[in-house]
Parts: sequence; structure tokens; C-alpha cells
Amino acid sequence: MREGCTLGEVEGLARGMTMKEALHYNPESRYVPLGGAKGGIDCDPRAPEAYGVLVRYLRAVRPYIESFWTTGEDLGLTQDTVDKAAAEAGLVSSVQAVHPLLEDESAARRRLADAFAVEVDGIGLDELVGGCGVAESVLAALDRAGVAYEGTRVSVQGLGTMGGATARFLSRAGLRIVAVADVKGTVANPDGLDVEALLGARDAYGAVDRSILRPGDLELPGDAWLSAEAEVLVPAAVSYAVDAANQERVSTTVRWIVEAANMPVLPDAEVLLAERGVSVLPDVVVNSGTNAWWWWTLFGDIGADADEAFAYTRRSMRALIDQMLARAEADGTTPRAAAHAIAADRLPVLAERFGWYR
Ligand SMILES: NC(=O)c1ccc[n+]([C@@H]2O[C@H](COP(=O)([O-])OP(=O)(O)OC[C@H]3O[C@@H](n4cnc5c(N)ncnc54)[C@H](O)[C@@H]3O)[C@@H](O)[C@H]2O)c1
Repeated sequence: MREGCTLGEVEGLARGMTMKEALHYNPESRYVPLGGAKGGIDCDPRAPEAYGVLVRYLRAVRPYIESFWTTGEDLGLTQDTVDKAAAEAGLVSSVQAVHPLLEDESAARRRLADAFAVEVDGIGLDELVGGCGVAESVLAALDRAGVAYEGTRVSVQGLGTMGGATARFLSRAGLRIVAVADVKGTVANPDGLDVEALLGARDAYGAVDRSILRPGDLELPGDAWLSAEAEVLVPAAVSYAVDAANQERVSTTVRWIVEAANMPVLPDAEVLLAERGVSVLPDVVVNSGTNAWWWWTLFGDIGADADEAFAYTRRSMRALIDQMLARAEADGTTPRAAAHAIAADRLPVLAERFGWYR
């Protein structure tokens, strides 16, 4: 849910979701890949009418959710809000279309509910797994390049579900978070921000209360995250954040842009960045952890346990990132082209095993 959301944006998100499902296919696992779809609502999530719009939207799409479309939290909405609105719209669950595929439906639903109840240091597991996957993508790229974690600087746009968790996992791995942007602007400190303090001072929409900032923390304009001196940029807020014009402001220190958000880097910007030696790690791989975790948990590949979820997420993300970067090297393409090629290779395999949607 965001003000200005367009049909073209939702089509792009649906295409990305389809690829994420194919990329996480593992013939040994219980999780059945589900294809891909997406919904979008053009409304400011903080507007007083937002919740009513969500309920009416879910009521309108109810026949799809009852039979073949699963949906869940994303930009502007938390799963708690989606669950409450879904119940009000007369739905059993926002993922009920999957229930007939489960071996033991009640055990599976209990496992998912238990997993949603798990919290780690004040943040729900459902809000952490996605960022765990983003952070692991960064670490895998650093490892391949032989770059140490300690001292590697990171600038993040967005401190909501994805940006917040990514910042936590990266700072705990020893990287230095030097800038963070939210709707109010950018907070920066070249010596490193106190990530846990920022996380603890967020409102329900991921905006940070500035009164907790420390001496030395700077308040800068909203786009300052993009020009921060860092090795890694993590756009984790909105689509289309980096375009052909503003990519010029990306610092020469930056080596990776890691797409925690969906579609944050526009294609023409990516070409120009590649010419400058900046590698863009694509959304379809980097931020796919949350979606996959729902299904790993529901289908029973993992239990309702944070350590198990993080370990499984890390292993899966590292395998995907390594495969993608090796393919990009072998084909002489970008990581995104390599990820799309891997997804395209998988689709006939999936169709062969599960048949085509009819
Ligand atoms: N939540 C998920 O499970 C999930 C999974 C995969 C991908 N994503 C993608 O990640 C991105 C962020 O989603 P989220 O769920 O973390 O959102 P969220 O609503 O939890 O947080 C958004 C954050 O971005 C900030 N923000 C919003 N507009 C901004 C702007 N113009 N400039 C700077 N900061 C801004 C907000 O203040 C907040 O800190 C989206 O592209 C979303 O599609 C989310």
C-alpha cells in the first residue's frame, strides 16, 4: 500500500514474485512453488481511511484469495493489519488458498501462527527473516570479493521491516551503518549509527523519533543516503529510488547496491552503474527470504524457531547468491540477467513436475 502505486508497478512486482518462487524451488523440500502474483493499493497507509480501503479491497478480491491467490504484508502494511482486515472481510487467512496443498492443515497453521509469535530482541521473526536474507546476500558478496566485514560501510534507505532487519543483521556481523533514511529524511554518522537505538525508536510505519539521536549523528535531507560514502547501498524503501539522473550521485566508494526493496534501481541506471563498476544484486534473489520463509514454515521444511529459520534462510540465500554470481561470471552478464536466466531454466522443470496453471 502506497500513495501513487500504479498498475505497471504491480505487474512488475508480480513478475518478480514469480521468479522468486522459481528460484527457491528445491526438489527435495516439501514446499510446493506457487507461481507468482501481487496486489497493490494506491493509498497512503497513514491516511485515516487506509484501513477501511484495505478491508474493502480484500472483500473485493475475496474469491481469488479463497481459491488461488495468497497475499501478505508488504510496503506500508504489517501482517497484523492484513490479518485483522482479512478477518473483517470474512477470510479464514490471507494464505488460505494453499491450505488444500498441506498434508496436515491444522498442524501447519499452528506452526505458522507459532512462528509469527516468535520475537527476537523486540522484533517479530516474520519481520526479521527477510532482512536476514538481505544481510546474508551482502556477506556472500563480500566473501566472494575477499572484503572484510569489519569497517565495511553501509547506507540504507528505509528502516521498516526490510531495512530495519537488514541494518540489525549487518551491524551485528561487524559492518558499520553510516546512514539510514526514512520518510522524514536521512540520519547519518560516518563513525556508525546506533542501530538498535534507531530500531527501538520507530513508529508503526518505520519512521524514527529523532529525539533519541546521539551527539555526532547528523540529520540530512531524504536523498542523502544515496550519496553517502559507503561500500554498500541498500535501498529498502520504495520502487524506482535510483534512476539514470540520480545514480550520478552514488559515491565512488560504492561497490554494491543490494536491492532489499522491490524494483528500486531502474534498468537504465543499472547500465550506467555497471559502467562505473557498481554491481547491483537484484531484488528477486536478495529480498526473497520472507516469502520463502512463509512456505518453508507452512509446508514443514522448518519449525517455528528463530535459529532454525535464520540458519535455513542463510544457507538458502548463500547458495542462490553464489549460483547467481557464478552464472553472471560464466555468461559475462549482470547478476540480474543471471538470476533471470536461472529462473527461466527452472520454469520448464516446475511445469513438468506440477503442470501448468489452468
Ligand atoms: N515486508 C516484506 O515482507 C517485504 C519482502 C520483500 C520485499 N519487500 C520490499 O521492501 C520494500 C520496503 O518494504 P517494507 O515492508 O520494509 O516497508 P515498511 O513499510 O515496513 O517500511 C518502509 C520504510 O521506508 C521508509 N520510506 C518510505 N518512503 C520513503 C522515501 N520516499 N524515502 C525514504 N524512506 C522512505 C519508511 O519511513 C520506512 O522506514 C518495498 O519495496 C517492499 O516491496 C518487503
